[in-house]
Amino acid sequence: MKDHYTHAFTELQIPHQRNCNSISFPSVLSPNPTNVPFSLSLLTKTIATQKQFLDSLLHRAGAVLFRGFDFKTAKDFNDFVEAFGYEELPYMGGAAPRTNVVGRVFTANESPLHQKIPFHHEMAQLPEFPSKLFFFGEIEPSSGGQTPLVLSHIVYERMKQRYPEFVEHLEQHGLIYTLVLGENDDLSSPIGRSWKSTFSTDDKSLAEERAAKLGTKLEWMKDGGVKTTIGPIPAIKYDKLRQRKIWFNSMVPAYIGWKGEQNDPVEVTFGDGKPLPADIIYDCLKIMEEECVVIPWQKGDVLLIDNLAVLHARRSSNPPRRILASLCK
Ligand code: FE2
Repeated sequence: MKDHYTHAFTELQIPHQRNCNSISFPSVLSPNPTNVPFSLSLLTKTIATQKQFLDSLLHRAGAVLFRGFDFKTAKDFNDFVEAFGYEELPYMGGAAPRTNVVGRVFTANESPLHQKIPFHHEMAQLPEFPSKLFFFGEIEPSSGGQTPLVLSHIVYERMKQRYPEFVEHLEQHGLIYTLVLGENDDLSSPIGRSWKSTFSTDDKSLAEERAAKLGTKLEWMKDGGVKTTIGPIPAIKYDKLRQRKIWFNSMVPAYIGWKGEQNDPVEVTFGDGKPLPADIIYDCLKIMEEECVVIPWQKGDVLLIDNLAVLHARRSSNPPRRILASLCK
């Protein structure tokens, strides 16, 4: 029986994958064809016995795509996520409007699908962020709607090589983000989460208390909204496990992509208040585009992302498309 589990997975090669130091990015696992039929309950047992292998694969590759398993519903996805045994991270302080579907599964960003979402690490502008993310392709888009991925240390290395002084200043001072949150959720914006949802309360003093824990200052506005100031917060982090520096910030999305009624765009500056040079930010976006992989979603896919190693984005699409998410501490 043990042998059965050991050979539970086959590593697939698929188009659009990249090779990074002879490791496929992302790594793609599918059921071993000799194990068919491969039931969900067998799979969840297998996860427990294969945890070491899966953790080490994620460590090496940065992202693992599970393709060809029999995930049909949000509940299947929830069971799969649970099987890994990672602790759930509540979405406190995050900017995207999200709805709980089942268990620890939420909708991913609910902003209109024609809007692109630029590359980001999940909740990089907050002191507490998820270490891992799971995404589930519940409804496959007919075209577009991919989740591009890019390795964060490569973005750092290329930026450092091209703009050494800029990166040095960034490492020294970090970034400050200023973002307005409305009183009610604005589903037309990828960062349209209201302060009430963001801090899970409609009590202003409780919101202030929770914001302070997230390193965020609040300034109440006459229209019921609130101006939040985050930082200075480090923009470059050190990935201790992989021993490399990573581009862990929301500079590009904040500067160019996080537009909504209240924020056009979000204000982001160096931690010492100095303005950021627009040309460098747009070039950073170009580098991310050059280095990324873009793999189309297939129904039932589950994508596991190491949030320290990899930045993700969203391509635009037409409806229908439904990707669900679960965040881990
Ligand atoms: Fe995200």
